[in-house]
Amino acid sequence: MPSLSSIRFVDFDTQLMADAQGRVVVIVTPEGQLDAAARSANRMTKGAVKRLVESEAFSKAKTGQIFTVSWPVGMLAEALDVLVLPRKITATELRKAGSALAKTSGGKPVLLMTGSMTKVCDLAMGLALRLYGFDVHKTADKPKEDEAVIQIAHKSATDMAARFSVEQAVAAGVHMTRDLTNEPANVLTTSEFARRLEEMSELGLEVEVLEEDQLEALGMHSLLCVGQGSASPSKVVVMQWKGGPADEAPLALVGKGVVFDTGGISLKPGAGMEDMTMDMGGAGVVAGTMRALAMRKANANVVGLVGLVENMPSGTAVRPGDVVTSMKGDTIEVINTDAEGRLVLCDVMWYAQDRFNPSGMIDLATLTGAIIIGLGHENAGVFSNDDAICNAFLKAAQAEDEGAWRMPLGQAYDDMLKSRVADMKNIGGRPAGSVTAAQFLKRFVKEDMPWIHLDIAGVASVKAETAYAPSGATGWGVRSLDRFIRDKFEAE
Ligand code: BES
Ligand code: MN
Ligand code: ZN
Repeated sequence: MPSLSSIRFVDFDTQLMADAQGRVVVIVTPEGQLDAAARSANRMTKGAVKRLVESEAFSKAKTGQIFTVSWPVGMLAEALDVLVLPRKITATELRKAGSALAKTSGGKPVLLMTGSMTKVCDLAMGLALRLYGFDVHKTADKPKEDEAVIQIAHKSATDMAARFSVEQAVAAGVHMTRDLTNEPANVLTTSEFARRLEEMSELGLEVEVLEEDQLEALGMHSLLCVGQGSASPSKVVVMQWKGGPADEAPLALVGKGVVFDTGGISLKPGAGMEDMTMDMGGAGVVAGTMRALAMRKANANVVGLVGLVENMPSGTAVRPGDVVTSMKGDTIEVINTDAEGRLVLCDVMWYAQDRFNPSGMIDLATLTGAIIIGLGHENAGVFSNDDAICNAFLKAAQAEDEGAWRMPLGQAYDDMLKSRVADMKNIGGRPAGSVTAAQFLKRFVKEDMPWIHLDIAGVASVKAETAYAPSGATGWGVRSLDRFIRDKFEAE
């Protein structure tokens, strides 16, 4: 699988097409108009492109569709892909077309002839997002295609390459999130996760790892109880990006990083339990977003915090009925040890506010199965106490074509958390399971703190491929958060 760094912008020259290896891509409109490269390819192939656009099949051509001429005469390439793009096209349509091209390329070198297309970066971003495969654990001979290069020929190649470096940073963040989320729990232990985050200090991020004794001293007994049955130590990692004005409060991103969720003593059923390797997806998105911000040198102050724990049943595990005290001081009756994400987040969220006094806080978590029942795999659940920050995020998510749907909060849901013995229970019962989970978190949000909770259980990792990713981890959220930060904090 070619990687992100295999994308190169090269000077546009129709002569490149004759000798290119792999696949050559030219663009035509749905009306069958050929651009300069397509006309040139048509001459080389003795009229194949013209015959194609005049064919019955082409008359039903849709935006982004690819018609392949295999082993074209007059070219060395093994395929000439004719990509259908109208003159007026949205960024999302272009990204989808780029993604489709990446999928079609099948690891072969590609020469993509874009002429003077102004929105070429969107096409390239689509390619970058889909040029992904999680094959580190496949031992079969890696094909030579690893070295395959994706050349994008453009009349202003140097300019476009510079512009694309911003998008490429975001794509690198998305790929990192996917790698973390796809990684099995025996590889991505809490320590390995922390190590991978520490590595990001090379990018200019300030990274700190808080160990169990420090978490103990801070009073994070809620977070710590989740990991107390595991052989892996619990950790909180803090990543700071200081790209904005020195006196400006940061935005805080908080992620649930349960490297594996067995359910603990409230053990999950065996079928499908292996999917719980993705239960650190929220922490993965925080990590990927911090990478993107650092790589594109964002003009904003953002702090990312992740709570890394493993939820295991054992002789030392937390029991149903145990009462723990959170860092905030509120006591929690642990009714169900499988409702562990909120126990982790509440302490990290409190710490984030206590230490950084952020201007806003967004938490991400694969928090509830109930959000999948409600919204499926199309939309993440969005919960917020502040319309302005929430609407700004929803707008960013829409622009990035990442599904996000606002859910309600309210006193009646909060009432469902009342405990007989402690300040609250950690579950509210079956009805509105995602809302009571959000309501639990809201108890740890300070008065007047603009806050968004994103329940990404349905979107972090999926069984079927999506428009931008193969099956498995999607990286949902990195693009939306990056855009949200760009629009809210970096626009002059
Ligand atoms: N990690 C799960 C939620 C989840 C389910 C994520 C499916 C991804 C896919 C979470 O920790 C959990 O177990 N939640 C429980 C809560 C319940 C015990 C109140 C759930 O959703 O069943
Ligand atoms: Mn759980
Ligand atoms: Zn969980």
